[in-house]
Amino acid sequence: MSRHPKHATPDHEILPAIGERWSPRAFDPGRDVSRADLLRLFEAARWAPSSFNEQPWRFVVTGPRTSPEPHARLLASLMGSNQAWATHAPVLVLTAVAATLARSGEQNEHAWYDMGQAVAQMIVQATSMGISVRQMQGFDRDQARAACQVPATFDPVVVIAIGYAGDPDALASEKHRAQERQPRLRRALTDFVFDGIWEGNPFR
Ligand SMILES: Cc1cc2nc3c(=O)[nH]c(=O)nc-3n(C[C@H](O)[C@H](O)[C@H](O)COP(=O)(O)O)c2cc1C
Repeated sequence: MSRHPKHATPDHEILPAIGERWSPRAFDPGRDVSRADLLRLFEAARWAPSSFNEQPWRFVVTGPRTSPEPHARLLASLMGSNQAWATHAPVLVLTAVAATLARSGEQNEHAWYDMGQAVAQMIVQATSMGISVRQMQGFDRDQARAACQVPATFDPVVVIAIGYAGDPDALASEKHRAQERQPRLRRALTDFVFDGIWEGNPFR
């Protein structure tokens, strides 16, 4: 079996669900993600570590059939280039974090970090189930907040498209069609892992 061009070419052995994860823009518009499968993805997020175990993450799930009005408003909050492809994803999720710590009322400086970990776990779970995810920072936070009625004490972080990878040729943008087929590029480990001290000391 030939390797999918988007799969990682790791220099060291990694879990299949990490190497096979990639972020499509082309989603199959005819294939919904079942509620049971979505619940499994959020379950994976649920067991992520977080600072003080505050679990600051929140997710608002929208779909064109299950919650058409919030879904349409959330889609409209995306910047144009994201809207163009995300309109075909069967599920859009708005993520938001608690701005303050429940334990003290102080600002939670690690809330976004915790959200990233929760989403990372969710995506590894999704990959193992053949489900694809693409995250987006390109959206209007105020519009998205209004779309899903996020309380003022929470901050929108990213919008996540979830579905099954579709046909790259169905993408409207030529640039997106080309990117959908390009191999994924990564820095070498020696560029970002250091041994003891930083400069000139890659960890090998
Ligand atoms: C925080 C975050 C924000 C992102 N925002 C966007 C976005 O607005 N639009 C988009 O098309 N992709 C977005 N992406 C997807 C990245 O471009 C993608 O993950 C990256 O190019 C690496 O590709 P891969 O996920 O296939 O390995 C975002 C990813 C992350 C983690």
